[in-house]
Amino acid sequence: MIRYFTAGESHGPALSAIVEGVPAGVSITLEEINHQLTRRQQGYGRGGRMKIETDQAEVLSGIRFGKTIGSPIALIIKNRDWANWITSMAQFEKNDEKTAKITIPRPGHADLAGLIKYGFDDIRPVIERSSARETAARVAAGALSKVFLKALGIEIGSYISAIGAAAEPSAEVQLDGLLSQGADAISRQADLSTVRMLSKTTEAEAVAAIDEAKKRGDTLGGIIEIFITGVPVGFGSYVQHDRRLDAALASAILSIQAIKGVEIGTAFENARKPGSEVHDELHLSPLEGVIRKTNRAGGLEGSMSSGQTIHLRAAMKPISSLITPLHSFDIETLQPLPSRFERSDTCAVPAAGIVAEAVVAPVIANAILEKLGGDHLDEILQRLDLYRQSIHNTFCA
Ligand SMILES: Cc1cc2nc3c(=O)[nH]c(=O)nc-3n(C[C@H](O)[C@H](O)[C@H](O)COP(=O)(O)O)c2cc1C
Repeated sequence: MIRYFTAGESHGPALSAIVEGVPAGVSITLEEINHQLTRRQQGYGRGGRMKIETDQAEVLSGIRFGKTIGSPIALIIKNRDWANWITSMAQFEKNDEKTAKITIPRPGHADLAGLIKYGFDDIRPVIERSSARETAARVAAGALSKVFLKALGIEIGSYISAIGAAAEPSAEVQLDGLLSQGADAISRQADLSTVRMLSKTTEAEAVAAIDEAKKRGDTLGGIIEIFITGVPVGFGSYVQHDRRLDAALASAILSIQAIKGVEIGTAFENARKPGSEVHDELHLSPLEGVIRKTNRAGGLEGSMSSGQTIHLRAAMKPISSLITPLHSFDIETLQPLPSRFERSDTCAVPAAGIVAEAVVAPVIANAILEKLGGDHLDEILQRLDLYRQSIHNTFCA
């Protein structure tokens, strides 16, 4: 099974990740990892930090001659901004004169709870690790699972359907054509847009909304649509809470900074309708086997993949750092004060979509590995092929 950890402070020397359990024999290039890192850095509304960093991964272990060898894969991504923080983020020597303590917690951030929990008198360490800069390491780690899944015919894609009040009318976006080519097609199309939207009208509204928010010193959140294609029926399980695929996917998405809601299929719309208008009826086709004319369940039934496209939706709250300050106080003087501003994005929803793709990849990969086992890609491919074949033989004429 794949598991991974990340380490690194936002302004420390580097971010790092150790990824264990990627099967041997998966062909991977550094460009594929770096491509995902570049995608995470894009998007209209990003702040100054993304101008400083050009994220590039270095692989320290686990890959030989362009193929995984089954060993833990260690990755690092250097922080270029570290050069400006060597004194205030020094690991050992403290220079009091050059290190200002941060004592005003920012609402909507980990600042206050983190300070109290870890017993600090300076908020800086909380800011450094709770920052979404950490997601660069998760995107690099997730790229490995994405490449493994791609080799199995499973693709993960995303696009942005809303930024602030600029929300697409779903009728305007024709997803079926893109999805029939695989979820990558959605991402490729979305990546052409500066806000990763598929509707040109909504894109223009979103760009205007970001400009407007920036002018006001305000920020915006939005909605991310995530699609996973090519997952056969029966991955995940209903037999135990911790094997439920819908729960694992939702948990992974909620682990992303600022993501506060997850929806599977059209769950919230379904809640307002009778069952006869919600459940995806089963039909048999001689050529395709089991088919459904709708996918309101979002490709997950009984906590297992249904064989349809998995569709998840994530709600991102507006960025917590506002140039126009929110109310706060000083933890030393206990005097009310406006919140301090740390360089920040106005909107990071497009980037969060790339992070969402990365964090669901190991969840899906683990559902595959749990059912099929296998240490080498070839072994897993053979087992998957047999499984697909047996489903085909059962339901097709
Ligand atoms: C890709 C990405 C970029 C982000 N950039 C910023 C940012 O520039 N400024 C900021 O205040 N929050 C940013 N956030 C959100 C914060 O990291 C997050 O809201 C904060 O750490 C508090 O955590 P919580 O919202 O999960 O409670 C970003 C989140 C993501 C996913």
